Amino acid sequence: MSMLYHIKTYGCQMNHYDSERIEDLLAPLGYKKSDRPEDSDLVILNTCHIREKASEKMYSDLGRLSKYKENKIKSGSDLKIVVTGCVAQAEGEQIIKRNRDVDFVLGPQSYHKITELLNKKNQEKLHNFFPKESKFDYFPKTETKNISAFVTIQEGCDKFCSFCVVPYTRGPEFSRTVNEIVYEIKHLSNQGVREVTLLGQNVSDYKGMYQKDGKLEKLELSKLIDKISDIDGINRIRYITSHPSDISSKLIHEHKTNMKLMPYLHLPIQSGSDRILKKMNRGYTQKHYVDIVTKIKEVRKDFAVTSDFIVGFPGETDDDFLQTLNLTDKVDFAASYSFKYSPRPGTPSSLLKDEVPESVSNKRLQILQKKLDESQKKFNNSFVGKKLSVLFEKRGKKSNQFVGRSQYLQPVHVNSDESIIGKILDIKINKVEAFSLHGEI
Ligand code: SAH
Ligand code: SF4
Ligand code: F3S
Repeated sequence: MSMLYHIKTYGCQMNHYDSERIEDLLAPLGYKKSDRPEDSDLVILNTCHIREKASEKMYSDLGRLSKYKENKIKSGSDLKIVVTGCVAQAEGEQIIKRNRDVDFVLGPQSYHKITELLNKKNQEKLHNFFPKESKFDYFPKTETKNISAFVTIQEGCDKFCSFCVVPYTRGPEFSRTVNEIVYEIKHLSNQGVREVTLLGQNVSDYKGMYQKDGKLEKLELSKLIDKISDIDGINRIRYITSHPSDISSKLIHEHKTNMKLMPYLHLPIQSGSDRILKKMNRGYTQKHYVDIVTKIKEVRKDFAVTSDFIVGFPGETDDDFLQTLNLTDKVDFAASYSFKYSPRPGTPSSLLKDEVPESVSNKRLQILQKKLDESQKKFNNSFVGKKLSVLFEKRGKKSNQFVGRSQYLQPVHVNSDESIIGKILDIKINKVEAFSLHGEI
């Protein structure tokens, strides 16, 4: 009988990419995926450390897994528990201390060791250092049925925003080589992938080595995008997440000239107040941010921008918050995420004393979210009666319904048949429901 494994992924798309690589590593060992942790032989929690809630969730899930493990041991088998991801990196030792049932803890740069660890007995539990070798050298080729795929091109971060754990959990910034990325995407394209999203904590700062005819050179993101555009079958390219300090004029130009590159940018601003941006160590001002958006919209009128916001950063006054609201009047965001500030252990801002009271943060978050939702609705409604270009990915919930994504990542539903999967079609939008759109070919 084959072994069953269950994997739960928390956090960002890079963690989802990592989980898929863990799946690729487990398949040759004879493991089959299960959605029932209680019946599995191996459970992997691929964790996120970004806000307190994310880490807390992991500890409560671990409690439940301990009970499953106990039951399995009673019935003569076992359940191996493995914790990977950013909590594993940041709190590896505490995890092992708090829950003795955890078999292994593997950081985001060491999880390629999972195969070796599962095969041997009495291994060291903790593996959360940054190894010299690159995990990317250990992954087998991916098998996928998806139309849209994620590819990590850059990892880690050297920006050290004062609130953020990523530079500590993912380590210093590094870029994969151009050749390695192009090879991976060609393989995806051969399997039917039509859209790739290039991932990185700081993807706009990509600088990867490119080797051709014995010569080595370093390419930036716009040049990498050029190379990917040449791959047969890849019709759409996206990238996430960018930092406002790294949006180069070359990248903006790429949006003007490369029609495979989607007219869409997720550009987190965090706050509209220059004073708070400085305390966050973000390295730009509200004006700089607005200027970038204006420049991009000049080269492509159909461009959409989305963002991330943090409210209640230590010392944020009513006036600072007002600046954030003012910014949302200046930029029409197509969609956004807003979060309440969460002090994270080890970050410089967690030492700041002038905390914003919980009730004030809650109120601000509510006000901001309402404004951002309205902005998103306005954006979506602006397409009623107009056309959007949609790449169809899968069946919808209703019979004959198929779902794809527009150039702006909006889910679009139509009635059609299986043959539209993998195609990019112009869809006339008839109505907007909550945050999804409905239309016809
Ligand atoms: N590299 C990206 C962000 C990655 S984290 C960037 O530079 O913007 C994703 C989002 O989580 C961030 O944009 C931020 O809005 C939020 N975030 C990060 N740390 C946080 C914290 N301590 N409290 C609340 N939100 C946080
Ligand atoms: Fe975190 Fe800032 Fe790096 Fe983004 S740029 S990952 S917010 S430190
Ligand atoms: Fe979370 Fe780590 Fe991603 S902290 S947001 S899983 S980089």
